[in-house]
Amino acid sequence: MTLNKWRVYSMLNSKSNILEFACTTGFSVRELCKMAQCKGLGIDISKASIQAARHNAKQYAKSVNLKYVATNALEFSTKDRFSHVVIGAALRFFPNPTQTIQKCISLMQNDGFLLSAEFFVEKSIPDKVLAKAQKVFGITPTNVGYKEVMSVYKGLELMYEDFQNIIPETEDELAHYVDSTVERIVNDKNIKDDSLIKKLKNRLNEIKQVANELRPYQRYVILVHRYRKTIYPHRYVELF
Ligand SMILES: C[S@@+](CC[C@H](N)C(=O)[O-])C[C@H]1O[C@@H](n2cnc3c(N)ncnc32)[C@H](O)[C@@H]1O
Repeated sequence: MTLNKWRVYSMLNSKSNILEFACTTGFSVRELCKMAQCKGLGIDISKASIQAARHNAKQYAKSVNLKYVATNALEFSTKDRFSHVVIGAALRFFPNPTQTIQKCISLMQNDGFLLSAEFFVEKSIPDKVLAKAQKVFGITPTNVGYKEVMSVYKGLELMYEDFQNIIPETEDELAHYVDSTVERIVNDKNIKDDSLIKKLKNRLNEIKQVANELRPYQRYVILVHRYRKTIYPHRYVELF
C-alpha cells in the first residue's frame, strides 16, 4: 500500500529514475520500478543485503532496469541526479537524520520527490517495552511525536501525507509471515539442517513479536515531499 501511494502521489512514470537509500534486500526500488517500468538504483552499506537484493531482482523483476551497489549512502557520489529518492522507513537508522536528508537532496533533480515513511508515537512507549526492543533490534525505536519526526523535512514541500494506525497482528498472521519468509530462505539456500531452520524461525519470530508489542503506541505516516530549488529551504504555504 505504501509503495502504491508513493507511486501515485509522486507521479512516478516510465521516465523516472529512482534511487533508494538503505535499500536492504531491494524491495521498494524493485517494486516501484516494476510498477512504473522505469530505472532504479538501490544502495545499502551491507554487502549481504545487496547480494540478496540482486538475487531477488533476478527472481522477481528480471526485465527491469535495476542496479544495486554496496556502499555507505552518506559517502555515495554519482553524476546522475534522480527524479525520486526513496528512504522508506530507514531514515532513523542513520545517526544524523537531518544530514541524511541533505545528502538525499544533493542527489535529486530539481522538482524531484523524496519518498519516506515514518513511525511516531502519540503516547510514550513504556521503558520496559523500549528496553526489550533495544535488545532485540539493536537500536532504540522512535519514541518521539509527529512534529519532532517531521522537523527534519523542513525546507521541502509536503505534497502528500497519509496517517495510518498500526493494528497489532494476530499470532496466526505472525506465524504465517514467519513460516513463509523462512521457507523461502530454506528453499533458496537449500538448507537441510533442522536446528538452523528452527533458529531462523525463532529469531524472526522474536523480532516480529517485539515489533507487534510496539504497535499500540505507534502511528505511521506515508510521506511525499518535493524538492524545488527556487523554494528550498524556505516555506511559503500553510501546512495542511
Ligand atoms: C530497516 S532497514 C531499511 C529497510 C527498508 N529499506 C525499508 O525502509 O523498508 C535499515 C537499512 O539501513 C542500512 N544502512 C544503515 N546505515 C547505512 C548507511 N550509512 N548507508 C547505507 N545503508 C545503511 C542497513 O544496512 C539496513 O539495510
